[in-house]
Parts: sequence; structure tokens; C-alpha cells
Amino acid sequence: MSEAPPAPEAVLEARGLSKSYPQARHPREVVGDVSLSLRRGEFFAVMGPSGCGKSTLLHLLGGLVAPDRGQVVLAGTDLYALPEAQRSAFRRRHVGFIFQFFNLLPGLTAAENVVLPYRLERGRAWPLRGLGRDRDARARAERVMTTLGLTGLQGRRPEEISGGEQQRVAVARALVTDPALLLADEPTGNLDYHAGRSVLELLLNLCRREQRTILVVTHDVRTAAYADRVAIMVDGGLREVVELGRRTVHDTAPLLERLSFHGL
Ligand SMILES: Nc1ncnc2c1ncn2[C@@H]1O[C@H](COP(=O)(O)OP(=O)(O)OP(=O)(O)O)[C@@H](O)[C@H]1O
Ligand SMILES: [Mg+2]
Repeated sequence: MSEAPPAPEAVLEARGLSKSYPQARHPREVVGDVSLSLRRGEFFAVMGPSGCGKSTLLHLLGGLVAPDRGQVVLAGTDLYALPEAQRSAFRRRHVGFIFQFFNLLPGLTAAENVVLPYRLERGRAWPLRGLGRDRDARARAERVMTTLGLTGLQGRRPEEISGGEQQRVAVARALVTDPALLLADEPTGNLDYHAGRSVLELLLNLCRREQRTILVVTHDVRTAAYADRVAIMVDGGLREVVELGRRTVHDTAPLLERLSFHGL
């Protein structure tokens, strides 16, 4: 009997995720029965109108908010079966987050910001300022910033660099613990077209060259068009997952057609 071919490696597997928040008198289901599977090296986007539950879904997938029902298996581990402290440690190790407002700490240099999750993971984050004696952290910051073409920015503070540079520093920070999964919530929402494109190309390269798995939440069709697959979310549920394939940048027309089919 011949052996079955190996299944494509799933980095993240979510099954039946639901989450409600109390609103006015009744709880309102913000995410309802969402299942999805992300493969290694995949660039996945989630689109949908404001308030449809995209950020909540991203928080559920990344171990930040526990679902009412359902399961998230990340790198083979059932996230919400872990006690909270262990889940935080696991999340720090395996997930990198990128946010719309960059969220770099002012007052710390770019290198100090980049290396912070790594130092937290090792329980050696203090003092936050100055990497003088922490040679390992210095080398780590240097390596990830060089890989992303950010040499020269190490000693600059967030307030001394542009928004596009800040977001690329935030990508470096998300990568510093070498996570399998990057979760990005509107990563280009505060950038102009060119700065946004350079962040997206950076993310795309991380998928293609380093086989990272990236999930991007976005309102923007041009951003979603970088993805291999795009989930369309409406009222807390995934209505459709559109396969765009693995070309570098896709034509937006097929995606626009599917969005319009769903009334978006
Ligand atoms: N912590 C919370 N407590 C109560 N309600 C919440 C909470 N977080 C989100 N919500 C509600 O859940 C719904 C979905 O929010 P979510 O932030 O996931 O939407 P979104 O799709 O990311 O929207 P946007 O595109 O505007 O960022 C909204 O109605 C929001 O008000
Ligand atoms: Mg949001």
C-alpha cells in the first residue's frame, strides 16, 4: 500500500470560534462559528466592513482574547487549553503582532523596541533602556534589523523616524522571537500608498523567503490583493474565502467582484 502524501503543514487551525460581548441588554455575538486553517508560508487576508469582528477574530487567533466556544491550535498546541500564564509565554514565543498605530514605546530607541519581546521572553527585560551589557539582545536586534534593511535606525527613537519606518521597525519587533505566525491589524492603515507598499512587500518577502505565515486584517483591496487567500467577513462570520493564488501582486478585479457579491 502506498503512503498518503503529507498534508500541507497547518501552522494555525481554528475551529468553531465564537465570542460575544455584552451590549445594551443582551450579549451580542461578535464572532460566530469561525473555522479556518493557515498553512506554513501562507499570506492570508481578512476583509470586511467596520465592526464585523475582524480585530476580535485576530485577538482570538493570537491568544489575546479567549473565545466562548471553539478552539485554536497553534503550532500543534491547543492555545486555550493552556493556563493563562503559560498561554502568554507561548504567545510571545510563537506570535508576532503588528498594529495600525505601530505601538512603539516612545523614549526607547528602535533597537530597544525591536528586542523587547525577546528580552521579555527570556525574563531579562530590565532596564528597558540601554542594551549595553546584554550582548545577546544587541546581536539579536542587529540581526533582525539588518535583515529588514533597517540599519542606521537602531539608535533613533520612534518620534525621530517616519511612520513607514516606524511600521518597519514594528515588523522587526514582531519577528524578533522568530515566530511562525504574524498577525497584522490594518498594518498600512496609517501609511501613505508608497510607505504602505514597502511594508506589504516586506511582509510578502517574509512569507515567500522565510515561510512565515501572515494574517492581515484590512479594509483596503490593494492590501488584500497581496494575499494568497482572502476571507470575506460579514457580521462575525466568514462568508467566503477567495483563492487568489501565489502570484506576487494580484489583480484586484476578482476580489472586488466577490466583495460586491456580498454587498460590500
Ligand atoms: N472588548 C469589547 N467589549 C465590548 N464590545 C466589543 C469589544 N471589542 C469589540 N467589541 C464590539 O465588537 C464588534 C466588532 O469589533 P471589532 O473591533 O472586532 O471590529 P472590526 O471588524 O475590527 O472593525 P474595524 O474595521 O472598525 O476595526 C464591534 O461592534 C465592537 O464594538
Ligand atoms: Mg478592527
